Amino acid sequence: MTNLQAGTSVAEEAGQLILRGGRPLRGEVAIRGAKNSLPKIMVAALLTGERCILRNVADIQDVAIVSELIEALGGSVARPDAGVIEIESANLKPMERSVLKEFSGRSRIPILLCGPLLARFGVAQVPSLGGCRIGSRPVDFHIDALQRMGAILHDEPGAAHLTSGKLHGNKIRLEYPSVGATEQVILAAVRAEGVTELSNAAIEPEILDLIMALQKMGAIIAVDVDRVITIIGVNSLRGFDHTAMPDRLEAASWASAAMATNGRIFVRGARQVDMMTYLNEYRQIGGDFSATNDGIEFWRAGDSLRSIALETDVHPGFMTDWQQPFVVTLTQAEGVSIVHETVYEQRFGYVKALNRMGAKIQLYHECLGSRKCRFGQRNWLHSAVIVGPTPLKGAEINIPDLRAGFSYVIAALAAEGNSTLTNTSLIQRGYENLIPKLTALGAEILG
Ligand code: EPU
Repeated sequence: MTNLQAGTSVAEEAGQLILRGGRPLRGEVAIRGAKNSLPKIMVAALLTGERCILRNVADIQDVAIVSELIEALGGSVARPDAGVIEIESANLKPMERSVLKEFSGRSRIPILLCGPLLARFGVAQVPSLGGCRIGSRPVDFHIDALQRMGAILHDEPGAAHLTSGKLHGNKIRLEYPSVGATEQVILAAVRAEGVTELSNAAIEPEILDLIMALQKMGAIIAVDVDRVITIIGVNSLRGFDHTAMPDRLEAASWASAAMATNGRIFVRGARQVDMMTYLNEYRQIGGDFSATNDGIEFWRAGDSLRSIALETDVHPGFMTDWQQPFVVTLTQAEGVSIVHETVYEQRFGYVKALNRMGAKIQLYHECLGSRKCRFGQRNWLHSAVIVGPTPLKGAEINIPDLRAGFSYVIAALAAEGNSTLTNTSLIQRGYENLIPKLTALGAEILG
């Protein structure tokens, strides 16, 4: 698998990985800063002209793309040490047409530039968004909130174009606790005039990480227990020195790998506090773990795994990004498991290939959970019934998105025989050093 740098084409760097399965993964891997927090904190750095230091930075594609974008906007991103970046944006300039074109379709992060760009220039143009194709992923909540704060949306196909004077605070209620829309409002409100009260907000730990960086910058943000976030706008913000929280999605991915391959993996850097919901479900299906200050070790408690019924949800529920690796593990559990996906309408596309490998997973349009979700009574196959245990056999699989990609790696390692995975570069959006980590855990990599 090649090392994908931002700027290279998919065709050049698509990547292939050939794995021989059947061997338990054993050993230690270390995780660093969260993919879903690092790029957002990098965007927050653009709210000030002062130097910002971000630590525990993982070498992943989303960080590379945002670094490139900051540089294209006239800022600088230095790497004085491994895992540390220094961002300076005193000379930031508005987004030019060439930059819009260059970054079109490469990431979802640029939509979060609206707040900083409006605060600094009164104009924000944002390229069309990329990211995993796991649902329609509109940004209507983002735009609606910005309009309520005084931004004007201009009609421009393929890109968001907003202008404003100084944004003003407002009472905003999200229709659904969207992670990105919550971050959008926070990043726009910290330098707006007056108070913003955001209700039905997302409160994922990665959002709290962003809030902590902003608080170091001088922002005033209160998070209430009932999903209300209150932001008192300030005139200026200063630099920060912040250590990003560890990636709890990568930690859970290795945990699922340990269980599916009947191995034992110590994930250095994983934190119990970020993963409590996951750990409860892990234990219920027959996994065990030991959490210390240095990390969490994961293994199977007994000879067999148990089935479960669960639904994904916003925090503090079971994360949608934990779902795919967990489902691979459930193919090895005794009995019938049910997984109801309530965050994204199309996040089960990957099970087709698992069924080719021998899994027995059937998808349903109905909400097979304790409650109805937004996707019931429509044509979305968003509930899965998994019958296990089923032996898996190697296959040739093209990777459709990030989390599905890692799930196929787990399935390939749990399977009999060889599997060839293509388009592996997608995995590098969120997992650094995949090959060295797999090697360290004893995976058989044939190419
Ligand atoms: N939604 C709307 N309108 C909006 C915004 C969201 O309808 O304006 C809907 C979405 O279509 C989706 C739901 O709300 O059905 C939740 O979307 P959310 O905005 O919370 O997701 P996001 O911010 O785009 C982030 C992560 C995702 C993670 C979700 C949920 C980043 C860069 N991405 O996406 O991560 O699944 O939150 O926790 O932070 C991944 O890591 O593989 C990944 C996809």
